[in-house]
Amino acid sequence: MFRDHFLNDLTIHADAPMARRMFDDLDEVRSDLARRLTRAAKDRRSPMHVPAVVTSDVDARTMVLRAFDPKAWTLRFHTDTRAPKVDAVKADPRMAVLFYDKSAKIQIRVRGTGEVLEQDALTDTAWSNSTNFARRCYLGDGPGAVSDAPTSGLPERFEGVEPTDDEVAPGRPNFAVLRITLEELDWFYLAHTGHVRAQFERSGDQWEGRWVSP
Ligand SMILES: Cc1cc2nc3c(=O)[nH]c(=O)nc-3n(C[C@H](O)[C@H](O)[C@H](O)COP(=O)(O)O)c2cc1C
Repeated sequence: MFRDHFLNDLTIHADAPMARRMFDDLDEVRSDLARRLTRAAKDRRSPMHVPAVVTSDVDARTMVLRAFDPKAWTLRFHTDTRAPKVDAVKADPRMAVLFYDKSAKIQIRVRGTGEVLEQDALTDTAWSNSTNFARRCYLGDGPGAVSDAPTSGLPERFEGVEPTDDEVAPGRPNFAVLRITLEELDWFYLAHTGHVRAQFERSGDQWEGRWVSP
């Protein structure tokens, strides 16, 4: 049923068998995965730039992927210390992230352990590399704060206005990095000749790969 549904939806691409042959090696698939995550972090036009980030409290939300470290296999996101997801990660750090690139027909699912970093060098650097326009988001009410009327949560004077360095400084304690250390990878390529799927499990610095039925 699942398979038929996908096959019906698929555009038939003449180059699919070629692409499939490119991915007949697990090391090549893992390199492809690393390349895609690297691009996802750097290129805001990448369809994988805004994945769904899943916490252990069975909740998911869209977040901007800020960085991928292909040596440590970590993902970096930015968030507000007051966001409910921060409490969820602290209570149980198991996490998943879902990426899909429709034109490449590739889905990437990853699982790992999340950490919320608030007062450390990495978070300081992430804060200093942000624009004041982006930092402004940390000046208002925390995500999920209830309001009597539709609200941006921002102080009115900063709506659509870039604050100065001094004005934005009080937002710093609300800013955090969410870092996820990946432990499991799942790569899925949709092809009309037959989908291809590979999984990888981490053991220390090594990744153990295997092919699985889609
Ligand atoms: C395109 C898009 C990008 C987003 N990027 C982020 C982000 O980078 N960090 C973040 O904390 N929330 C981001 N959000 C908002 C979250 O999806 C979410 O609504 C908010 O963080 C509250 O989540 P929580 O209640 O699960 O903590 C983004 C939303 C959209 C639609």
